[in-house]
Amino acid sequence: MQTHLRGRDMITTQEWTKDELDTVMDVALDLKRKRAMGVPHAYLRDKVLAMLFFFSSTRTRTSFEAGMAQLGGHAQFIESSTTQISHGDTAKEIGEILGRYNDGIAIREVTWGVGNKYIVDVAESSRVPVLNMQCDFYHPFQALADLLTIIEQKGDPRGLTVDVSYAYASSYQKPLSVPQSLILLLTRYGANVRLTHPPEFKLMPDIVEQARENARRARGSFELVDDFDAGFQGADVIYPKSWGCTLTTPDLEESAEISKQYTDWIADERRMGMAHERAIYMHCLPADRNIEVTDGVIDGPNSRVYDEAENRLHVQKAVMALTL
Ligand code: CP
Repeated sequence: MQTHLRGRDMITTQEWTKDELDTVMDVALDLKRKRAMGVPHAYLRDKVLAMLFFFSSTRTRTSFEAGMAQLGGHAQFIESSTTQISHGDTAKEIGEILGRYNDGIAIREVTWGVGNKYIVDVAESSRVPVLNMQCDFYHPFQALADLLTIIEQKGDPRGLTVDVSYAYASSYQKPLSVPQSLILLLTRYGANVRLTHPPEFKLMPDIVEQARENARRARGSFELVDDFDAGFQGADVIYPKSWGCTLTTPDLEESAEISKQYTDWIADERRMGMAHERAIYMHCLPADRNIEVTDGVIDGPNSRVYDEAENRLHVQKAVMALTL
């Protein structure tokens, strides 16, 4: 267990050692148990987290806000559109100023080519930890919640086959950040990670390379698959979700047109039947029901989506308690 994480940013899990990530899992389970038992755990009394959103959210906003309250602190919800950012406040000014009012700054900015740079720039000017609530490259707290869920449901991820797959959705062109954070984190834990997508839906090459290197170091495996059905075959964890073909075209309308070739990439009962008989279905949500996944699968006996959503609360509380 690592005990010197005060002041650290969480922008990508790649910047944390395996030991440090193990500490997050350990503390998250402790806080989850305490909440279940009604044991007070106000470790952040009088502390304040600024939550700056450039994009909509259900789970991230409410779990960070609830988590800070349960830790005895307060979270202030800030929508960028109601601030002076559009009139000139820079990332440096946001880091400097919010860092003087608060004990942590959490940011969601998913705009392609903008989000990660903005969060890194704020962090460089902030005297307090900066937490990435999702950018264009990473969604670290989703991946940490997913790892905790897999550990709870399946035990040690080492040797488990995890299919991180593209699925079709029509609602919007979703960021690459969830699959990218998943392949980075699960390879650290020795899982056999399958990344399944059509050719136009590649992830960032340097992130794929980091995942391959993580798998080599952890003695797991990492493979690329371009057949949706093949991704399900024998897998222990099935994680099909949509993302945009951002590296093929940054144009959202063109991306939506290209994705229409793949309307049959839907997680359904037939495909779940190809996975391991005790496979679990995961999705970060929101999902396009009966487009990305059938009701039968997402509401079925193999689905763990609500445990997964709950674990957002516990891992975020763990990182906040350790860093703020
Ligand atoms: N999974 C997730 O980040 O959900 P929200 O977009 O609702 O925050």
